[in-house]
Formats: sequence, structure tokens, C-alpha cells
Amino acid sequence: MSLLSTARLRLEPINDSHLQGLHALNRDPAVMRYITGKPDTLEDTQAMIERVKARWIEYGFSWWSFIELESEQLIGAGCIQYLGRDPANPLETGWRLRQDKWGRGYASEAAHSMAAFAFETLNGASLCAVCHQDNSASARVMQKLGMHYRGIERWYEMDTAVYDMTRAEWQARRIELCTKRPTTFFPDK
Ligand SMILES: CC(C)(COP(=O)(O)OP(=O)(O)OC[C@H]1O[C@@H](n2cnc3c(N)ncnc32)[C@H](O)[C@@H]1OP(=O)(O)O)[C@@H](O)C(=O)NCCC(=O)NCCS
Repeated sequence: MSLLSTARLRLEPINDSHLQGLHALNRDPAVMRYITGKPDTLEDTQAMIERVKARWIEYGFSWWSFIELESEQLIGAGCIQYLGRDPANPLETGWRLRQDKWGRGYASEAAHSMAAFAFETLNGASLCAVCHQDNSASARVMQKLGMHYRGIERWYEMDTAVYDMTRAEWQARRIELCTKRPTTFFPDK
């Protein structure tokens, strides 16, 4: 099972030890507002963990918990999964964060790491993400990742805004970021 890391986060494949942290996340109505529209119960989160563990074994990818390195606390979760949970569909990414951690760039940081995993480890041909049409913060994370708006499609019993990118677009973006980096680290004297 693949553990990922970023500058500020460790992404751990979801396991039983994450129950309380995930429950704290999933029971917050503000976090669930644009996902299911209602808070999850402890039993919902237990069932989620069981589903996700089975997918890690079957596919070798699924949901991670985001552990903040500074505090060692579980502050969010995200995934690479098949869109609509159907292996016939392209790969999809998604994210959710504890409300007190919004607005610090954590979702974008985790999204970048999960997208790298989808394209560079799984060799995915494309990656998409879907959100409730009013979920501007999530749509912005998709745009910052380099995804393009594809339109409105019905997924997860909702008319969602769909964003996606191809592997070629991902590679071009990687090169663009790498060529920009020297000016960040070595500004003109
Ligand atoms: C969506 C979510 C994960 C974003 O997490 P985050 O760590 O705050 O995201 P980031 O800081 O990386 O980026 C958020 C971007 O959205 C922007 N943003 C935030 N709220 C916004 C709003 N209401 N309207 C427009 N843009 C908004 C931020 O300014 C930022 O963009 P910028 O870097 O260009 O300024 C977080 O809000 C969340 O957990 N929401 C509840 C769960 C959820 O809806 N998950 C997505 C399901 S599809």
C-alpha cells in the first residue's frame, strides 16, 4: 500500500486506527455540505473504512488519510478511485479537510501528490474530479491542479461539475513547474 508525502502532510492508506479522526471529519455538516449534504454517523465511517480497505487490496489504490506532520493529527482525506466506483471508468481524485484547516493550501498540496501517483505510478491516461456546482473552493483546487472544466454530468446521484486532465497535460505542467522553479530559488541578484 502506497504512503505518499508532501512538505506538510503524510498520506496514509486509510486503516482502522483512523476511525476517530475520520469520524471527526465526516460528522461535520460543513465538511459534508456539498458531498452528501448530511453528516456521517460513526457507523457510516466504520463502513467507509471497511470499503476502502477492501479497495486497497483489490486495486492497490483508494483513500488516504491526511496526517499533518506538524501536529501528527488527521486533518483530512482524499482518494484516487474509479469514477463512479466503476473500473470501466477513468481515475478520479477527491478531497475533504477538517474545517479548521481550510484555506492553507493543504488540499492543493495533497491533490498534487495524489495526481502524481495516478499518472506516474498507476500510469493513468487521464484524471478527473467532480464537485457540487456550488462548491467553488473544490473547483478551484481542480483548476490549480491544472484540470479543465468538462461540463455538468450526473455522478453520485448529483448533477456535478466535472474537471479533468490528460497525462500529456500533466507532463506538460510538470515541465512548466520545473522550469519555473530556478527563478524561485535563485532570484536575480
Ligand atoms: C474543498 C476543500 C478540500 C479545499 O481545501 P483547502 O485546503 O482550503 O484548499 P486550498 O487552500 O488548497 O485551495 C482552495 C482555493 O479555493 C479558493 N476558495 C476558497 N473558498 C472559495 C469560495 N467560496 N469561492 C471561490 N474560491 C474559494 C481559495 O482562495 C483557494 O484558491 P487560491 O489558492 O487561488 O486563493 C475544503 O474547503 C473542504 O474540505 N471542503 C469540504 C469538503 C468538500 O467539499 N470536499 C470536496 C468535495 S468535491
